[in-house]
Parts: sequence; structure tokens; C-alpha cells
Amino acid sequence: MEVSEFNLLYKGFLLPKLAHTEESLQYLENFKVKDDDVFAVTYPKSGTTWMQNILPPLLNGGDLTPVQTVPNWDRAPWLEEIRAAVVLEERPSPRAIVSHMPYRLMPSSFYKSKAKVIYVARNPKDVIVSSYHFHKMASFLEDPGTFDDFVNKFLSGEIVFGKWSDHIKSWRNPELKDRILYVTYEEMLQDLRGVLCRMLKFLGRELSTEALDRVVSNSTFKNMKTNKMSNYTMVPQEIMDNNKSAFLRKGVAGDWKNFFSPELDAKFTAVIREEMKGTNIKFPWDEE
Ligand code: A3P
Repeated sequence: MEVSEFNLLYKGFLLPKLAHTEESLQYLENFKVKDDDVFAVTYPKSGTTWMQNILPPLLNGGDLTPVQTVPNWDRAPWLEEIRAAVVLEERPSPRAIVSHMPYRLMPSSFYKSKAKVIYVARNPKDVIVSSYHFHKMASFLEDPGTFDDFVNKFLSGEIVFGKWSDHIKSWRNPELKDRILYVTYEEMLQDLRGVLCRMLKFLGRELSTEALDRVVSNSTFKNMKTNKMSNYTMVPQEIMDNNKSAFLRKGVAGDWKNFFSPELDAKFTAVIREEMKGTNIKFPWDEE
């Protein structure tokens, strides 16, 4: 695995150096998961920021104050990133935490805990389009090169956070039993309220109709885009240049059709299909 100046290699896994350090990864390893912690786990560009908008109010009775006053990276921090050590210990329970780690790299206390996980998957073709634009606007990530080159890197796994299919498969571990709820980005686009109801049921929580309406409305793409606590415009332009490509870019399903040639599409589909063979994992986009 080639490790560029932008990344570090952690247990065979490439991570961007800007937010991941030896200390932050040590913190991750030693983290004491509480039974009422709730994790939103994603492969990057699959709806993490969306979950950071949704989970805190679902867990606090519908109070939108954190979404309006605390930046997303502190409101529901990444367990593996440097902000976790700064904010997590002081967070009232139940804590909302996000992670891009594969199952095997969670802290040992996680496996013994009852902490619940909401896993969000997104069509990998849209993931790569989103990631491609993110690599262009984020100075702490390598230049993605041409779209075709970037897709080839993604398929080979020579990319931060590794292969999409490995991530998906790792989180299908039967050990998790009923501790995990699987949702897709596409379902959230289609019926956000319905997904939030499933999440509430899974978390054993309730919200009044009005409170749920407010969470739904607050989590639409349009409203998140104008919320500076969720749209990354507070990050200095040298680090994330929203003029090159907004972090909250398009927020749609199927944008991949504007980027993939028929040949690249055929190759991508064949590789992913082969990697997912024998898993019984079915996604709505498989039939496209
Ligand atoms: P696009 O680049 O396709 O627009 P992550 O937060 O995991 O990095 O994922 C970012 C992707 O999720 C971006 O996709 C972003 O626009 C999209 N996203 C974030 N909030 C959203 C929302 N409320 N509705 C739809 N898409 C959203």
C-alpha cells in the first residue's frame, strides 16, 4: 500500500492525516463504549453529516439546539478523529458518535457493549462521485486525477478508508445481532420520516409528531445547506474550498450517470458484483 504525505497507514487502512493521528487512534482503541452510546457508521460520503444532523435530536427528545449551535464534528464526533478526545467525555448520555472504521477496528469495549449502531449504505457509484468532488475541494486529500483514474483507485482499495465492499461486509457481522439497523441513503431521500420512525423504534425512543416534523424539516438538504453548523463553511477555505465544490454538493441519487461512461459502468458493476458474491446482501440499486 502506497502511503502519501497526506495519509497514515493504520492496521492496513489508509486514513487522512489531518484528523487522524497516533493519539486519536490510541483514544479510539482505549475508548470505553457505554451501553447507551449510539453509533452511526458509514463508508465516507454515504450520509455521515446527515446522521450527525438527525441522531442528536432523536436522542435528546427533539431538541434542535445542538444542531443549531454546535458544529457537526463536535455534535456527533468521529470516534477515530482528534475531536473525539476533546468533546466526548463531557457529552451527556446517550451520546451520538459517528465512525468510518470497519467492524474489526472498533475499540475492544465496543464488542462487549450493548451500544447500538445505525449503518448507512449508499450506492457506491454515487459514493465515488461524491468522494471525487470532495477530494477536489479538500486540500488535505490527494488530488483525485481524472474521474476514471479515481474510480480505478477506489476499486483497487488504494484509497483512504479502503474498499467500499470490505466496509459493507465487515458490518454484516452476525455477532452484532439486533444491535444494528441497516438503512440506505436512498431510502432516506425517498422517505426521511419513515426512516426516522424506524430509527426511533430501533432505539426504543419516541418523539411527538411535532418534534419529529421539526427534525425531518431540519434535516432536509435545503435546510442543512444553509446551516453553518452543518455545511462546513466554518472550515477555513485553505482546508475545504466550498467554492470549488460545496461539501453539501447535490444531495441526490443517480448523479453517477453524469460521470460514468458505459465501459466504466460495466467494469465497476462487475467488480462490485464479484466482491459481493455469496453475501446475500441486496441493495435497491443492484437492479439498476
Ligand atoms: P453529494 O456529494 O452527492 O451531494 P458524508 O457526510 O458521509 O461525507 O456524505 C456527504 C454526501 O451526503 C454529499 O453527497 C452530501 O450532499 C450528502 N448529504 C448530506 N446531507 C444530506 C441531506 N440532508 N440530503 C441529501 N444528501 C445529503
